[in-house]
Amino acid sequence: AAWRVVVTRRVAPEAMQILRDAAPALDLDVWDSEDPMPRDQLLARLSVGADALYCMLTDKIDAAVLDAGGDRLKMVSTMSVGYNHIDTSECKRRGVVLGNTPDVLTETTADTTVGLVLAACRRFKEATASVADGTWGTWKPNGMCGPDVYGATVGVIGLGRIGAAVARRLRAFSCKILYTGRAPKPEFEEVLDAKFVRLEELLAEADIVIPLCPLNESTKGMFDKSKFRAMKKTAVFINAARGELVNQEDLCEALTEGEIFAAGLDVTTPEPLPTDSPLIKCPNCFILPHIGSASKGTRTAMATLAAKNLVASYKGEELPSEVKL
Ligand code: GLV
Ligand code: GLV
Repeated sequence: AAWRVVVTRRVAPEAMQILRDAAPALDLDVWDSEDPMPRDQLLARLSVGADALYCMLTDKIDAAVLDAGGDRLKMVSTMSVGYNHIDTSECKRRGVVLGNTPDVLTETTADTTVGLVLAACRRFKEATASVADGTWGTWKPNGMCGPDVYGATVGVIGLGRIGAAVARRLRAFSCKILYTGRAPKPEFEEVLDAKFVRLEELLAEADIVIPLCPLNESTKGMFDKSKFRAMKKTAVFINAARGELVNQEDLCEALTEGEIFAAGLDVTTPEPLPTDSPLIKCPNCFILPHIGSASKGTRTAMATLAAKNLVASYKGEELPSEVKL
């Protein structure tokens, strides 16, 4: 029988077309909005009976949501590479298949990450503010100076697809690449001239620290007071992965007390930050609203890959990208 599918957001028409072209035709229940489907709507629409869920990283897919879907729910397709918003052990226990969208967003996210590096090192936040409020005055020999990106030692925590793409770009800035993670990645060491080191060594030596690891129980809150203290006072911290990797109070203190020089963030906890958040007030904390993958082409590619994962599952075929649970 044709699957009934709940889609939690308006997505690219190309992706909707893939869902509509599935035969026999899928029965689509689409939350046709730029804004998230409220949780009570998600629960209600799954309770009516759904075979699959097409969701975003803003939807929390926990046991209650999976319960609402019940035995009929067979598949969750998220339009994101990260899946920390999904309770994977509950999916596994219920035999719910999970699809995500790696690879298609790697290069765009790496571009954004390098943008954060440049913005934080070259003090774009303070600089643009001084232009807007007239405090710039004039060119000053020591005005708005920050550390060089060129030739810096960069420490990547989690040299996966995105980490390697960032490192590849920074090699063009003559950066030296250190990395750490669960295991050395010999396939990257040669092309990136990257050196595997212990986290302690990375934090002590890196001028720019960039975690690009998934959020899970072992990485949650990993960047706390002790880690910021272990960095150079001139260090720049970048986060384009997940806000929950960071203890934000500790980051704010490190930025205010001069434990590190600056930060560039594409992700925070929560998203959005309240506008009176101390982090927003930090002149040396440059913050973007989770736009790492936000190019038109890449968002369309993510939306279509999520649709292809869903349709493959519907047809009983191998998913283009299945999360192994
Ligand atoms: C973005 O953060 C993603 O996980 O796709
Ligand atoms: C993370 O998902 C990566 O691709 O590096």
